Amino acid sequence: MSMRMTTIFSNHLRRAVWTAGICAALFGPPAIDLAQASPPAKSGTTSDAGLIAHGEYLARAGDCVACHSAPSGKPFAGGLKFDTPIGAIYSTNITPDRNTGIGSWTFAQFDRAVRAGVRPNGATLYPAMPYPSYARLSDDDMHALYAYFTHGVAPVAQNNRPVDIVWPLSMRWPLDIWRHLFAPDPKAFDTARYSDPVLARGAYLVQGLGHCGACHTPRSVTMQELALDDLDGPTYLAGGAPIDGWVPSSLRGNPRTGVGAWSESELVQFLKTGRTAHAAAFGGMTDVVQHSAQYMSDADVTAMARYIKTLPSSDPAEKPHAYDDTAAHALRTGDATAPGAAVYRDNCTSCHRSDGHGYTGVFPALSGNPVVQGKDATSVIHVLLSGSALKGTKSAPSTFTMPAFGWRLNDEEVADVTNFVRTSWGNTGSTVTASDVAKVRRTVSVTAPELPPGAARH
Ligand code: HEC
Ligand code: HEC
Ligand code: HEC
Repeated sequence: MSMRMTTIFSNHLRRAVWTAGICAALFGPPAIDLAQASPPAKSGTTSDAGLIAHGEYLARAGDCVACHSAPSGKPFAGGLKFDTPIGAIYSTNITPDRNTGIGSWTFAQFDRAVRAGVRPNGATLYPAMPYPSYARLSDDDMHALYAYFTHGVAPVAQNNRPVDIVWPLSMRWPLDIWRHLFAPDPKAFDTARYSDPVLARGAYLVQGLGHCGACHTPRSVTMQELALDDLDGPTYLAGGAPIDGWVPSSLRGNPRTGVGAWSESELVQFLKTGRTAHAAAFGGMTDVVQHSAQYMSDADVTAMARYIKTLPSSDPAEKPHAYDDTAAHALRTGDATAPGAAVYRDNCTSCHRSDGHGYTGVFPALSGNPVVQGKDATSVIHVLLSGSALKGTKSAPSTFTMPAFGWRLNDEEVADVTNFVRTSWGNTGSTVTASDVAKVRRTVSVTAPELPPGAARH
């Protein structure tokens, strides 16, 4: 290959693959009722029914619906857009419609797509489809998924949308090379590596169906995850790059920036309800809780939590959070002279309180909260600019809202209050500038709330 060809090739590869990257997980969370996905009852043996039901459970655990359904579209009919720097790709119809979906696919074809990322025509899928994680699914689970997708889902006739990427970037051969270089070969999951069956189950779910690493593990410049499991060392689940302006935080035992200070039961509670005394789910994690984790059995969620708790800190020098009363004391005694303190007092104390403890299960604590102290402050700035909703789940039905402040606080004020929450109450996050805020502001949506007729905006 000439020098020029090599450069074109590697740029092509990088950009095509970037596409793939979970830049992908830009899926907005459509409200999907899986009941809608069920076909009219068919006759069948009990064991078929059992296999299909098991497949439905696994499809939840793999969160297939979140990516394979368009907003207000039919479940699993595809069409969800994944924006990429080179254009858009769309998820596909995986309902059993024979012409537009996977209804005519054999088990082997379905299996090869899900575990190896290869279509029946031999083309490689963009790894926006997390086949590098699904590669470790067991044969039994693949059979259950196939039973569900061929007999438990209502067929929907809906053509797949072609990619909106111009030729030659739309060619799939670089993906083929990427897959050979970086995607693991599907192979049986080695349970013997784990000391007990609960840990092995948790590892299988976290590394496989849950594809937690697709967001939570950092990626290289060529977009593959730097680690696919705990054996690959301390980058596994050490926190990923922002997706849609939200930073997937570290799930390792780091006491301050990871979940080292969380108990197993707090992790379980977070996965089932999106909230604990210390934190609340937002960004892509809201989708995971809404579509997937809240439906998983207590045993499976506990197994995932127990496995996560085995991942050691990636930074032995990191100290646990130690509460410091200085900021709370100043606010209580009317001293708001510290940068950002007045903005915090006027806008935040009603929910997060002057001591930063929030209200358990309602308004998250900001003191000691790992996402508030993380290395990358993008999420904190984003949540301040755009607001967010902590959505109800089966076991925690109330929804609570963080208002958007971007329409009335300027970049300087947002930077000040970001720094205030990242450095008060014993928090030890780094600080940001107004220009950091301006950068985030350009990429997120900042809308003012509706005002009642006649009301003036100050
Ligand atoms: C993070 C998003 C995401 C998740 C989660 C996901 N998929 Fe996909 N999947 C995609 C995208 C995007 C494509 C299309 C990729 C392309 O065009 O190369 C795809 C393609 C496929 C295909 C190939 C279909 C075709 O017509 O070529 C199958 C089969 C499939 N997915 C099944 C599943 C199943 C089963 C699950 C759950 C266990 C799942 N997917 C979960 C994003 C996802
Ligand atoms: C689509 C991307 C995505 C996937 C997939 C994902 N997460 Fe997350 N996760 C995030 C983001 C973004 C955050 C930071 C916001 C928050 O705390 O909710 C997060 C936060 C978390 C937190 C809270 C950490 C803290 O310090 O507050 C836990 C625990 C967690 N994820 C566990 C998991 C597990 C377990 C899985 C796999 C079953 C998973 N996540 C899959 C995006 C994702
Ligand atoms: C009306 C109550 C309310 C007010 C006022 C409010 N927040 Fe929040 N805040 C929330 C809720 C609810 C969440 C959880 C959102 C979610 O989970 O999507 C949240 C989340 C956050 C988070 C992310 C932490 C996490 O674990 O989810 C930060 C950081 C934050 N708020 C900072 C602030 C700051 C700074 C202000 C003042 C400028 C403020 N909030 C004002 C209710 C509020």
